[in-house]
Amino acid sequence: MTEKKVIEMKDVWVRYGNQIILEAVNLDLDKPGGLLGIIGPNGGGKTTFLKILLGLLEPYRGSVKLFGKTPEKSRDLVGYVPQYKGFDYDFPISVWEVVLTGRLSHAGFLKRYGQEDKGAALKALETVEMLEFKDRQIGQLSGGQRQRVLIARALASHPKLLLLDEPDSGLDPHMQDELYRLLGRLKKDMAIVMVTHDLSAVSVYVDKIACLNRKLHYHNSKEIPVEDLEATYQCPVELIAHGIPHRVLGRHKN
Ligand SMILES: Nc1ncnc2c1ncn2[C@@H]1O[C@H](COP(=O)(O)OP(=O)(O)OP(=O)(O)O)[C@@H](O)[C@H]1O
Ligand SMILES: [Mg+2]
Repeated sequence: MTEKKVIEMKDVWVRYGNQIILEAVNLDLDKPGGLLGIIGPNGGGKTTFLKILLGLLEPYRGSVKLFGKTPEKSRDLVGYVPQYKGFDYDFPISVWEVVLTGRLSHAGFLKRYGQEDKGAALKALETVEMLEFKDRQIGQLSGGQRQRVLIARALASHPKLLLLDEPDSGLDPHMQDELYRLLGRLKKDMAIVMVTHDLSAVSVYVDKIACLNRKLHYHNSKEIPVEDLEATYQCPVELIAHGIPHRVLGRHKN
């Protein structure tokens, strides 16, 4: 049996009202493991792109398949760490409770957590090395620790595809590095798609890079053609490339 593709997007178009947000997006991700980094300017459509993969938005044209099924039908296989949006961290909820909510789709009719849910939550906290903070209120954690808890929440459902929307924003370089190392470990067991603004960091840790600004530039490689970068950011590459090591930049070969 041939392995199902992790992501198969064909000619996907998305709009809000009259504004086209994604235009003719194609993406094939074959391998179950590995980390795809997506970069692009603010408003370029990165979060929208993830929402399409989650089945929270429908393209008006084109098709999306995850593991050979529609996004709705494959939602159980997908973990999501949303973009930080001033979540109310004063809300009195413990780390443990946050991670358990990652099991909601498994928790059955009465939404009561069973032993299996609790085991999965424990394991996820262990994976992100946050088990000792289990009973802490989420508001009493640092930004980097919170990010780990949100990743644990996504891992608790045992995803085969993990989507992260700028998980590195607001973290200091040390915490960012820790986060990327964690993702580096996780990517052996699942496919990871990470949206980020940190170009220098992605160049070290990702296996593939895509640039997104309405159109998706993707060449199934870790190299970003200079032309793509300029088209994506709509400015000369010198203005954006200071963080990008030279080996990541390339010219089109054709
Ligand atoms: N619910 C919505 N209704 C109308 N327009 C929207 C909606 N959500 C997003 N947009 C618009 O779609 C475009 C893409 O938004 P999106 O959030 O996908 O960008 P992004 O690449 O994630 O940006 P950022 O880097 O700032 O997070 C923006 O112009 C935004 O204003
Ligand atoms: Mg966004």
